[in-house]
Amino acid sequence: MPIEVKEVSCRYGERTPLEVQALKEISFRAEDGEFVGIMGHTGCGKSTLIQLIAGLLTPGEGQILIDGKDINGPGYDREELRRTLGIVFQYPESQLFETTVWRDVAFALKHLDLSREEKAERVRWVLEAVGFRMERAGKSPLSLSGGEKRRVAIAGVLAARPRILIFDEPLAGLDPWGRLEFLELAARLHRQGNTILMVSHDADALCGYADRILVLDRGRLSAQGTPEEIFGDLERAETLHIGAGEVRRIAQALYEKGRLQSPAITKYKILLGEIKKNNKGR
Ligand SMILES: Nc1ncnc2c1ncn2[C@@H]1O[C@H](COP(=O)(O)OP(=O)(O)O)[C@@H](O)[C@H]1O
Ligand SMILES: [Mg+2]
Repeated sequence: MPIEVKEVSCRYGERTPLEVQALKEISFRAEDGEFVGIMGHTGCGKSTLIQLIAGLLTPGEGQILIDGKDINGPGYDREELRRTLGIVFQYPESQLFETTVWRDVAFALKHLDLSREEKAERVRWVLEAVGFRMERAGKSPLSLSGGEKRRVAIAGVLAARPRILIFDEPLAGLDPWGRLEFLELAARLHRQGNTILMVSHDADALCGYADRILVLDRGRLSAQGTPEEIFGDLERAETLHIGAGEVRRIAQALYEKGRLQSPAITKYKILLGEIKKNNKGR
């Protein structure tokens, strides 16, 4: 189920004094089962882009094709998009409103044609999938920790079993443990074959988990490539207005001290391996 974005432009407040060109001539493709990270300065158009892909906004120009079909074309079945794609907005926990965790997740299944038993089974499955303990499903969402609330909100989106998952800054406001939990969940969903688009400022997270990173700059796609391609050259990354992660910075510092052969390391595990290897030789 590839996603193809073709020459997409988008404006807000068109033909008013407040007109903003949020995106300009964006083109890229996300393959089936790919994990694509999206980076860029605040206001560069990341949220606009993913809302266009989710069919929540319509592009002024250009096309968005999912599985070869133009999602804004005449006769496109919007229900198909709803079944195929799930989007988790920033701070999704603010949208929890039911009296219990169980009810909140079950609410997301309302429009699906499932029996009572099937729905109950689905809620159980998805809470387990996000690592939420069943015995806590009767609790009020308000009584949960930040990381737990976010997992419950994500469970609501996963419950419909969409193949494409879009996350808008899912790490914002999480503590280190919540961050790691989320990343492990995303990695698991990726391994299960889902296509993932994830907007984040966290370079370490995207370098560790994404296959490819897209960089937006003032509404334009300024770069795309593997984490190594994007952050291999720190000076170039700076010209893209994105900050490198700690892993890349530590690799740089060790390289400058002559303790690594190459500074272009963006993944934590690889950095650790290289450090161990070099320490052995001493
Ligand atoms: N609903 C809206 N109405 C008017 N302008 C908007 C709206 N949403 C976003 N914008 C503007 O569009 C540009 C891109 O915003 P957005 O896609 O939210 O960026 P990001 O998610 O990268 O921070 C910004 O200049 C922002 O102010
Ligand atoms: Mg945003």
